[in-house]
Amino acid sequence: MSQSSFPTVRLRRLRQTESLRALVRETSVTMDDLIYPIFVDEGIDTPAPVSSMPGVFRIPERDLASEIKSIYADGVKAVMLFGISHHKDATGSDTWKKDGLLARMIKTTKDAAPDLVTIADACFCEYTDHGHCGVLTPEGRVDNDRTLSNLAKQAVCAARAGADIVAPSAMMDGQIKAIREGLDEEGFEMTPIMAYSTKFASAFYGPFRAAAGCELKGDRKAYQMDPMNGREALRESALDEEEGADFLMVKPGMPYLDILAKLRAQTQLPLVVYQVSGEYAMIKFAAAAGALDEKRIVQESLGAFKRAGADLILTYFARAIARGEL
Ligand code: PBG
Repeated sequence: MSQSSFPTVRLRRLRQTESLRALVRETSVTMDDLIYPIFVDEGIDTPAPVSSMPGVFRIPERDLASEIKSIYADGVKAVMLFGISHHKDATGSDTWKKDGLLARMIKTTKDAAPDLVTIADACFCEYTDHGHCGVLTPEGRVDNDRTLSNLAKQAVCAARAGADIVAPSAMMDGQIKAIREGLDEEGFEMTPIMAYSTKFASAFYGPFRAAAGCELKGDRKAYQMDPMNGREALRESALDEEEGADFLMVKPGMPYLDILAKLRAQTQLPLVVYQVSGEYAMIKFAAAAGALDEKRIVQESLGAFKRAGADLILTYFARAIARGEL
């Protein structure tokens, strides 16, 4: 081992010009890495701005086909669909109806842009009248095992409607196994599962809940993870991998880079990170106040996800990046 050090070694040699820096740059982000989350509302006529997420709109369902065409034309290659339901009930049964919002928005998206990778978020909180991610017991707790069979029904409905990937985000124990079995039984053994494997009970989801119309009384701490736990996050991911996940995810993003880096060392699966609504809002409001340079902050934060080990990034900035605005 050479013991070279200053003045033989000068790390600044490779930093002198942009072309040199580009040659030795270890990480890059392209549109192939980005997934754009969108909100589809079945009950509105005109796009509704989300006040807590400047630049984000709820898309009226009737405009979805044209919006998808223009999102695809902008250069977005993958979308994650979130439905804003006006047909909520205690179980979220609209999600497994063949003419329900979930099925309709997937079908419309695939018809409008067949090559756009269409990912269906599989959860119930946008479709239950109580706002929780599953069915409730008489005592008001989320019933894990009864929710599993509903998740499988929802996943099959999504696959049947044409979803390229299903992404369960309910944080029920055993949900990947239940969904894999449900899909396989119905002949969808080739539909991949993107597991929200490490989803924390985070205050960073605040703006999303307003965007998706799923505010709830109480919290999700009995099923989502305690933000203070790192080892448990690795266990969650290892279990989802064993149950058959095709992708693992860490969510939120920026405060959880340690989890991402540790997971990178533990798994060979593609790793996804979700830059969530609160992270988006922080950047947008700080930029609007003149405190941050939005473009540079976005590039740096997405680059940091890749550097920490992410292969794919869910980000509300994806469309603006595709359009060359960021
Ligand atoms: C629903 C869901 C949430 C997010 C994605 N899917 C909210 C939650 O769990 O409360 C958050 C996304 C974001 O904040 O951008 N299960």
